[in-house]
Amino acid sequence: MQLVTEDNITELAAARWGTARDPRLAEILTSLVRHLHDFAREVRLTEAEWIAAMGWLKATGHISDDKREEFILASDVLGLSMLVVQMNHQLDERATPATVLGPFHIDGSPELDFGGDMSDGVDGTPLYIHGTVRSLDGGPVPGAVLDVWQADGAGFYEAQLAVDEARLRAKYASRADGTYCVRTVAPMGYSIPMDGPVGDLIARTEISHFRPAHVHFLLDVPGYEPLITHLFQEGAQYLDSDVVFGTKQELVVAFAEREPGPTPDGGMSEVPWREARYDFVLQPS
Ligand code: BEZ
Ligand code: FE
Repeated sequence: MQLVTEDNITELAAARWGTARDPRLAEILTSLVRHLHDFAREVRLTEAEWIAAMGWLKATGHISDDKREEFILASDVLGLSMLVVQMNHQLDERATPATVLGPFHIDGSPELDFGGDMSDGVDGTPLYIHGTVRSLDGGPVPGAVLDVWQADGAGFYEAQLAVDEARLRAKYASRADGTYCVRTVAPMGYSIPMDGPVGDLIARTEISHFRPAHVHFLLDVPGYEPLITHLFQEGAQYLDSDVVFGTKQELVVAFAEREPGPTPDGGMSEVPWREARYDFVLQPS
């Protein structure tokens, strides 16, 4: 009979999980066992605390569904998502850096032309985001699809609302000279969802639960490293305290105020609008 003690249980469990037939899975599971056990030893975890943790995990699973990704949110606020991004996207310093995907991306957004309005029917100050998609060598990348999404003025993404039509999300293709133009409304800073187990934990800390104003971009262009990133509004509140650690200086851009007049899509605005210029620089794969 195998005699289990506080001193030998870690080695026994690690050896057991090290039998995973996939060597990488074996490596991950043995390391996970060791770190979990070390953690429990370090904080001298009590049974009441262990039960509370199991209840928190159960609630996190219960609130999750196709649209609500509470485990991803937990990973985001713990800094794990951003750590994984950093480790896996060590791009050339000239390339546009990556940041977190977040839980609100929806596949299959409608395709819009250069300057097409993805904010149709949503209130806000018109915002044009435009520039060029380029390669590291400076050459234009034509036909790059920019998948764009953002929250509305109340801080809600389509995925959080009961709506039937695509809302504040679209796909734009760069033109033959690499140029692109997104027409949307200026985003606002917003709170991450606080009505679940992640919010319950955050409410017990001094952590700010807000993200600075941003627009999300996903560029998955053949021949280049896939890029998931955001553009943040320069001067926005919460840039220094982003609850999911997603901000990077290179991604902070001016959302300049403009008077009524010609707009970057070749049209005219009758109301004041904002302009953000940004060139996405892709790293060849
Ligand atoms: C977002 O920017 O959409 C987001 C990212 C991580 C957690 C919550 C929201
Ligand atoms: Fe966001």
